[in-house]
Amino acid sequence: MTIELRDVVREYRIGGQLVRALDRISLRLSGGQFVSIVGPSGAGKSTLLHLLGALDSPDTGSITFDGTEIGRLGDEQASEFRRHRVGFVFQFFNLLPTLSAWENVAVPRLLDGSRLQGAKRDAMGLLERVGLGDRIDHRPAELSGGQLQRVAIARALLMGPSLILADEPTGNLDSATGASILRLLSEVAHEGGRDRMVVMVTHDRDAAAATDREIGLQDGRVGSDRCDRNGRAAAAR
Ligand SMILES: Nc1ncnc2c1ncn2[C@@H]1O[C@H](COP(=O)(O)OP(=O)(O)OP(=O)(O)O)[C@@H](O)[C@H]1O
Ligand SMILES: [Mg+2]
Repeated sequence: MTIELRDVVREYRIGGQLVRALDRISLRLSGGQFVSIVGPSGAGKSTLLHLLGALDSPDTGSITFDGTEIGRLGDEQASEFRRHRVGFVFQFFNLLPTLSAWENVAVPRLLDGSRLQGAKRDAMGLLERVGLGDRIDHRPAELSGGQLQRVAIARALLMGPSLILADEPTGNLDSATGASILRLLSEVAHEGGRDRMVVMVTHDRDAAAATDREIGLQDGRVGSDRCDRNGRAAAAR
């Protein structure tokens, strides 16, 4: 898979003030990679992540996902794209407090009209996969921060997405727990061959250093772009 951004601009107008959150971003992202986006607060990291996940659209410029323009989808097409192609992981987990771990993981499939038994079986398989096979009936309040993030990652994987987007997934975890979540995201990024990609926003230098490619944003522009030792990202550009 390939995601290509060309001259992407996203501006916000609040009152009389115009903020250019993304200022002519051009990037090519390739499947099989764990990519991090770093940069100071307000640099446009979350804005970029939202555009990649079709949660938001650019004002000008184009974003293609395997050749298909995703920057100008209607609401229904955008939600269809998100449901089937994208998994989201957030800093504060965003789990439903009254549901058990497996129910939280199964939610996307239940919303899609699938049968309960199949959804439950797949949710339990994914909880095994993230190391929580013995916590399937626990509610969020009965799980640790690292376990909550594993449940959220399992939920993000349920629909078999090619793109996993994570905004500060380790921001709320201690460093050892954060490191285990990074290892899991790295495995997830690499297990789908070139059909899977994980893009993570992070403030943590060590977390970014563990990824294959580190894109630095500064005032809405790409200020730096480090690729791994194998030059995989470099070769793909
Ligand atoms: N919904 C919005 N309305 C108006 N301005 C916004 C909105 N969202 C973001 N911005 C502005 O766009 C710029 C980029 O914001 P963004 O949230 O992408 O930054 P960020 O790099 O994720 O920062 P942080 O590290 O603090 O999360 C900021 O100047 C912000 O104030
Ligand atoms: Mg942000």
